[in-house]
Order: sequence, then C-alpha cells, then structure tokens
Amino acid sequence: MRILVTGATGTLGGALVPALVKAGHQVRALSRTKRESRGNVEWVWGDLCSGNGLPEAVRGVDAVAHLATSGRRGRGAVDIPGTRLLIVAAREAGVGHLLLTSVVGADRAPIGYLRYKLEAERLVGESGLGWTVLRATPFHQWLDRRLHDFAGLPALPVDPTVIWQPVHTGEVAARAAALLAAGPLGTDVEFGGPEVIGTDELAKAWLRARNQRRPCLRVRYPGRLYAAQRAGDLTTDATPKGKITWQEYLTPPAPIVSDDFASEHTASPTSPATQPEQDPDLHVYGGDEGYERPTRG
Ligand SMILES: NC(=O)c1ccc[n+]([C@@H]2O[C@H](COP(=O)([O-])OP(=O)(O)OC[C@H]3O[C@@H](n4cnc5c(N)ncnc54)[C@H](OP(=O)(O)O)[C@@H]3O)[C@@H](O)[C@H]2O)c1
Repeated sequence: MRILVTGATGTLGGALVPALVKAGHQVRALSRTKRESRGNVEWVWGDLCSGNGLPEAVRGVDAVAHLATSGRRGRGAVDIPGTRLLIVAAREAGVGHLLLTSVVGADRAPIGYLRYKLEAERLVGESGLGWTVLRATPFHQWLDRRLHDFAGLPALPVDPTVIWQPVHTGEVAARAAALLAAGPLGTDVEFGGPEVIGTDELAKAWLRARNQRRPCLRVRYPGRLYAAQRAGDLTTDATPKGKITWQEYLTPPAPIVSDDFASEHTASPTSPATQPEQDPDLHVYGGDEGYERPTRG
C-alpha cells in the first residue's frame, strides 16, 4: 500500500514510518520542513493549518495515518481545522482509509487537549471516508521528557493517586501498522501499556534509572483532568495491549526499537522533537499537550 503519514517527524511518527517501510509499504511522509526523499520514504511538504501541500500529499495514496497534532498551544489548530482540511483533500483524492491517532479517555474526559482530540475523532467519524481511530495511552518517551523537565526542581511533586498506563511508541506503531493493513473498521480502538502505575512509582523508577537524587514530595494534583485520571478514565482494559513496561523502557536489556532510521529520517527543525521546552510549568498531561521534547540524544 501507499500510505501518507502526517506527523511523521513526531514521537510516534518516528516509530511508525520505519514500521510501515519494514512491512513493505511505500510511505509518503508529511512535514512542514522540506526534506530529501530516500528509499521507500517520499517526503512531501505540507501544512495542515493552511492546507497548503495537502492535495499533492494525498494524491495516489491508499491510506492516511493522521498523527500530526499541535497541542494546546496550537489550540487544536492541527487537530480540528487541520483534520477538516485533510478530510476534504482525502475525499477529493478518493483515499480509502483514514486512521486518526487519539488519546485514551478523550471520550470520557474531553478536557483541554482531549477535547480537541474528541472533536477530531468526530470529524473523522463523519467524514464519509473509511476510518479507524486508534486511541493510545501516554507514551514512555513523552513521560520520560516530562519527568526530565521536572528534574530541575529540588523535589518532584508526585500524586500517588493519579494513575498512568505508559506505552511504548514502537508498540503503538505496530498496532497502527496492523490496523492500516486490516483496512477501515469504522470504530475506535484503544491501546494501552501492560500496567497501570501511580505517579510515585513512575517517578521513583525514573529517578533510579536516570541516576537522579531528588526527594518526592506527596501532593494532590488539582483540576478536572487529574480527577478523571485518578478515576481511571485515561486507562484502558482493551486487548491486545503493549508488553514493554515502564521499567523495561527505562532500563532495556537490549535495544528494543532501532532509532537509527528514525533519527536519520524524521527530526526536523520545526518538529516538537527539536524545540526546547518553552515553559515546563505549563505541563499537564493532556492539558499542555504540545508533547514537546528536547533534542534527540
Ligand atoms: N505523546 C503521547 O504520549 C500521546 C499519547 C496518546 C496519543 N497520542 C497521539 O499520537 C499522535 C502523535 O503524537 P506525538 O506525541 O508523536 O506528536 P509530536 O511528537 O508532538 O509531533 C507532532 C507532529 O505534528 C506535526 N505538525 C505539527 N503542526 C503541523 C502542521 N501545521 N502541519 C503539518 N504537520 C504538523 C509535526 O511535524 P513537522 O514539525 O515536521 O511539521 C510533528 O511531526 C497524536 O495524534 C497524539 O494525540 C500521543
């Protein structure tokens, strides 16, 4: 199949592009930065906010994996109007399958960023295209970056009652690749990590693995989103689920997913991957959402 991947330079895109190539697909990867095409990856320039480049990007593709997101700072500009523009272009090009990535809990707790994701899901569901929504729990890599942001503080504020189900992007990418191969389901599918753990366990494992010495300060995180997370609205029992635990991600016995291809093919100057953290205090999972990360090491 020929598959367009939006958000190809992002955290998940960096795992999905190589997974699709490995599965024998021809990949067209969209970015706001012009890049040279190589091998089975054809890079195309396009901007979901303006719609520029989208007709060319969708031309001749069988499926679109729509991963691009702008987060709260973008006020849903990519997630809502961008998704709308993508749908129009995909319809005109006769694309057979639009797979949207979203967040577990978007339907149960449409607050902040999750509200944008739920609206994007609605647009895709009503697009008239063949569609699938893949909702994932927070990525290991994203939590790692968030904890790294907090590590500058003298103590880590942790709320043990707020629970997480971290998942590896390699496994989310594998699930997305399988769904693309299967064709449109016309429904949403949830995918989470193998375990549900409290913020204290999450933070302590991270501190140990990163050789950071910081006390953990027990606090109660405020706000509706954390209340929903505490109540389990952002976790899922769905199967299959990921196998790689948070601890295994932090201290892998051997390299789990090769980052070589990803770093060669995906990092771009405009990608959140290469943006310095502007304001770590703004972070609330699903509330700040830019999913920014420091430069890849
Ligand atoms: N991060 C998590 O923990 C998590 C958890 C569950 C679900 N998800 C979902 O998984 C998906 C991928 O998330 P991620 O964390 O991998 O994203 P990310 O690392 O923040 O990457 C965002 C991507 O969006 C692209 N983008 C931003 N603005 C754009 C625009 N105007 N036009 C075209 N492309 C634009 C960027 O590409 P360029 O800069 O190259 O243009 C970049 O590749 C999203 O749908 C997200 O909601 C994420």
